[in-house]
Amino acid sequence: MAGYVLAIDQGTTSSRAIVFDERFRIAGVGQQEFRQIFPRSGWVEHDPEDIWNSVVATVRTALAGASLSAADIAAIGITNQRETAIVWDRATGEAIHNALVWQDRRTADECRRLVAEGAEATIIAKTGLVVDPYFSGTKIAWLLDNVVDARARAEKGELAFGTVDTFLLWRLTGGRVHATDATNASRTMLFDVDRHEWDDELLRLLRVPRALLPEVKDCAAEFGTTDPSLFGAAIPILGIAGDQHAATLGQACFRPGMAKSTYGTGCFAVLNTGTERAHSNNRLLSTVAYRLDGVTTYALEGSIFVAGAAVQWLRDGLRIMERAEQSGPMAEQADDRQDVYLVPAFVGLGAPHWDAEARGAIFGMTRSTGPNELARAALEAVCFQTADLLDAMRRDWRGSGDVVLRVDGGMVASDWTMQRLADILDSPVDRPVVLETTALGAAWLAGHKAGVWPREENFAASWHLERRFEPRMPAVERGRKLTGWADAVRRTLTGPG
Ligand code: G3P
Repeated sequence: MAGYVLAIDQGTTSSRAIVFDERFRIAGVGQQEFRQIFPRSGWVEHDPEDIWNSVVATVRTALAGASLSAADIAAIGITNQRETAIVWDRATGEAIHNALVWQDRRTADECRRLVAEGAEATIIAKTGLVVDPYFSGTKIAWLLDNVVDARARAEKGELAFGTVDTFLLWRLTGGRVHATDATNASRTMLFDVDRHEWDDELLRLLRVPRALLPEVKDCAAEFGTTDPSLFGAAIPILGIAGDQHAATLGQACFRPGMAKSTYGTGCFAVLNTGTERAHSNNRLLSTVAYRLDGVTTYALEGSIFVAGAAVQWLRDGLRIMERAEQSGPMAEQADDRQDVYLVPAFVGLGAPHWDAEARGAIFGMTRSTGPNELARAALEAVCFQTADLLDAMRRDWRGSGDVVLRVDGGMVASDWTMQRLADILDSPVDRPVVLETTALGAAWLAGHKAGVWPREENFAASWHLERRFEPRMPAVERGRKLTGWADAVRRTLTGPG
């Protein structure tokens, strides 16, 4: 049997395709960035055709790079930027509007309406999410209200909604399959995560017709086969998970109390809380970690909207560096006597504050503040925000006292940043050998379902540590920094905080 597995990782700024061999080694890679569309302040869109074209191109590149044909691929796993909403015409497959990206804040007023009408408690209880424009539900309603005829057509069943996984699945199967997995469904604000189904009360509150919605399956399931005209043969699609959920699997966080944090555009910390759902009193999300063989494993998640994006801003906006990798060495040279704090609330603040209106701020600058101090402030902001999330996790879930964080994503290549993270958290940080954890998690789902890859335990045994960063910052210094950060956040929030 063909032993290779292909992961499609459709992210916020780029699409990637990675072929793994039977020993989880990378055999071929394709990667393409695509256009980010910012029509107004706080609005973020993607053209679904850009997403689709980049996925097809990267799959072809990955296959060519591995010198393989479609017939050599046992299965495909899809993982994706979550929450991003697309509505398309079932007859033509054409989207009715650009995708509204997870970072898009245009539905903040609609969220305020839901809170004012007293819907928040129901939404939190059923979905585990807080009421915020981040999630798909209010974005779907915006599309139906702002594209001519869309609401009427949706009610007649002529349109389909999907997160990016669902849209790709539809296109990959030639319009034959309209489905998603439980992790992506859990990010829409329409899915009851205890009863495992779309919820009529939520659909009514958010004004979303049921006829739009896909079927919800396990993360490892029969999702159909690719249209042979795309890659030369029909390949089974056997795995789907949102990217942070796939990374949780790729980091082998299979046991309650294991946590991972991924540092990409944003930062997403996910703590496995087991098969019982943990409720948060600290504005974390109580979400689906993954669903296998009908069994849901839950997680507490902290979502930070800007992590690597702050370094990108220093590079592309302020132009104080040429490459993002320079940020670590610059931070190392920063003046220790200057306490400069950057609160990167460029698109509001996520967990645990959830302030859609807050905007970025810098505190503590003097005449001698320069690029090095700003670089350190951007990297430390990521560490401080992670500390806020882990603090909230510790308060929410008794099993999380001795969490060791497994990290991945572009920023973890910086030793300085990972050491500072361990120092600020005051707990160890583990960096694995394989950093492509998101793609690996999606590939594991598909390979496992195809029967070419091992069960959970054996896969977990293949996770290897590259380096553990132990905390070494004196407690007084750590305390001073955390107090300074808390003060900077307090001054940035628009509400009572
Ligand atoms: O919730 C949004 C998240 O899934 C996006 O991840 O890696 O594309 O920035 P990423």
